[in-house]
Amino acid sequence: MKKNHYLVLAGVLMASCASTPQLGNSSIEDVIAQMSNEEKAKLLVGTGMEGREENTDEAIVGEARGIVPGAGAVTYPIEHLGIPTMVLGDGPAGLRISPTRENDSLTYYCTHFPVGTALASTWNQQLVEEVGSCIGNEVLEYGVDVLLAPALNIHRNPLCGRNFEYYSEDPLVSGKIAAAYVKGVQSNGVGTSVKHFAANSQETNRKNNNAVVSERALREIYLKGFEIVVKEAQPWTVMSSYNYINGTYASENKWLLTDVLRDEWGFKGAVMTDWFGGLDVVAQMNAGNDMIEPGSNKQLRELIAAMDSNKVNMDVIDRNVKRVLELIQKTPRYHGYAYSNKPDLKAHAAVTRQSATEGMVLLKNEGKALPLSESAKHIALFGCTSYDFIAGGTGSGDVHHAYVVSLEDGLKSAGYTPDVQMKEMYSRFLETEKARLADARAKNTDPMAAHLPVERPDEMLFSTAELKSLAQANDVALITLGRSSGEFADRSTSNFNITEKERTLLDSVCAAFHAVGKKVVVILNITGVIETQSWKNLPDAILCAWMSGQEGGNSVADILSGKANPSGKLTMTFPARLEDHLSTANFPVDAPAMVQLGPQSGKKSDEPNIGITKYEEGVYVGYRHFDTHQVPVSYPFGYGLSYTTFSFSNLSVKDLGETYEVSVDIANTGQTAGKEVVQLYVSAPVGKVTDKPVHELRAFAKTSALEPGKKETVNLIVKKTDLSSFDENTHQWVLESGKYVFEVGASSKDIMLKEEINITK
Ligand code: BGC
Repeated sequence: MKKNHYLVLAGVLMASCASTPQLGNSSIEDVIAQMSNEEKAKLLVGTGMEGREENTDEAIVGEARGIVPGAGAVTYPIEHLGIPTMVLGDGPAGLRISPTRENDSLTYYCTHFPVGTALASTWNQQLVEEVGSCIGNEVLEYGVDVLLAPALNIHRNPLCGRNFEYYSEDPLVSGKIAAAYVKGVQSNGVGTSVKHFAANSQETNRKNNNAVVSERALREIYLKGFEIVVKEAQPWTVMSSYNYINGTYASENKWLLTDVLRDEWGFKGAVMTDWFGGLDVVAQMNAGNDMIEPGSNKQLRELIAAMDSNKVNMDVIDRNVKRVLELIQKTPRYHGYAYSNKPDLKAHAAVTRQSATEGMVLLKNEGKALPLSESAKHIALFGCTSYDFIAGGTGSGDVHHAYVVSLEDGLKSAGYTPDVQMKEMYSRFLETEKARLADARAKNTDPMAAHLPVERPDEMLFSTAELKSLAQANDVALITLGRSSGEFADRSTSNFNITEKERTLLDSVCAAFHAVGKKVVVILNITGVIETQSWKNLPDAILCAWMSGQEGGNSVADILSGKANPSGKLTMTFPARLEDHLSTANFPVDAPAMVQLGPQSGKKSDEPNIGITKYEEGVYVGYRHFDTHQVPVSYPFGYGLSYTTFSFSNLSVKDLGETYEVSVDIANTGQTAGKEVVQLYVSAPVGKVTDKPVHELRAFAKTSALEPGKKETVNLIVKKTDLSSFDENTHQWVLESGKYVFEVGASSKDIMLKEEINITK
């Protein structure tokens, strides 16, 4: 690294001797004035993507390659003007770079933190900021300038393959968690790229899918989280999404990238495309999409030709170049930061362990099955995933971690004794299963097959006699169910539902253990929502652990043992049936995994949900639908149990003019220290914008760890403008006059206190 950096510095010094304007010493305008059309184009179009250089039309082999192997992209350095390169690297569950390098015995592993959904489920902005700060430190110390994260698209439907990277079905949760993450990462002096802006709600045909969404649903649901993070945390960059929005590619959409993002919200940074997204470089430049990533020869040629033939206004180009230069001036590489390549991975492991624990959601705990009793030491550990824990999803959101703690390892470290005979059986079974899956993968001729998530092993079943003896020999049974997903494909209904073998396993283990008075606990090591309605009556307890990062097994053990009290809450609904989500009617349910049609492939499709996805549900996404239309759910939005109990009292709503200050007392009424998430929903009057959801989350906070008997007053601030709805006719936010009910509770279905407020015009 240092070598490269010194080369850049040497270039800067030599150039300044020759008194050419230098970035930093001269005004940006003077620097731009010295740039040729080709140099401007090279700054705006990235230098290509590692591993894609064989496709000469797609990728450029730039002189800045190989600085941080495995990073997402780099920009061109222009040394005679003192412009260094800038390195962009993926997130969001941690930094994604190659863990090993050619001719180098050192390793470059990064910490695998819990996936986005798990972090959001903490509802703890301070904790997410801390996680962000650790990730940002790895970005800085590994020589990356901008992290391609956070990702905050809305969980429109449980089947979106990348929901795990995203936070919630609710834009307030998404925006607030994203803002905390951005603040944490950027506190290190490195940048973020909030993505994918916007309405990138499916992976199927993502580069060519046209999301047809009303302006109201865009404003209130799909853009709202981005608005919050832009206004509250000033991310250095935004990444436009692949899809079309109402007929225009997001990256070519001036309304989105200039009128809304910059003029309305005040975004000051640079916008980059998603990788190889969009078609028309001139339209992208005009829209305010400053950087084309990772860049290809074709795009470079097209941009230079457009400049040379005046097909693009040079003021637009200079404006975009200026934004990129302003961005470069903030980077550690520009400032000559001597990165160590040695972040404190041990300290970060402790943070991921704790944050994963706090994001886990206790869905069921009958007869206080958890925490495990003092006498429960011998554990019958069922489910392949118990021995093969899933840290995170696949694709760009993956992290090259040094290790993953399995549940079996986590239990052993916590002093439990998982059944040794079962471990042997599962090891043998997993070996065969993995060979079978690898074989099937090798035989798959689809060129993109290698990018798809690796399928999970099948489940192993036990005879009645085996189960009887395991139930005699052990104190408790744990069953882990695993689900993975990743970029490029949506989940299938079979990934959402439990399999026949899983059902048999649940039935038979519960029958055998319950017959001898022993408990069964199910751990969900899952990418996203699965079907729970049909089987949740079987086990005594269910813990949703999400994909919980590299310390996952330790984090689960902390909860099972009672070392940590669960305090996560669902940031999305677990529906009774998939089809209960309105969006399921307009989602590519069980579409072929790798469908990529449309202009980029030379094929255009009008096929419903492949070519065109109509967001007919409007703002009725998640609980906004379930609560308004009184559709029963398996577990509601905001839900999650604790080992203790809380009381809510003394609700007060004060009108402070522009804002309301809502305060409420939360007391720990149980026997164990714990944290509670306080959720404020507001029910607005039906008015000009008629069909309002019955209530919407308007603020939330998490208490500190309250000791038994202790009380905390939680204050929440709600801006009056945040209570408004978007009027399609006037294209304006409207605050209706009338009666507003402020509801405070522990989930969208568990409202404890209410207060009415009147808003007069
Ligand atoms: C993903 C982005 C990612 C980029 C760079 C794209 O395929 O959609 O989220 O940042 O690749 O790896």
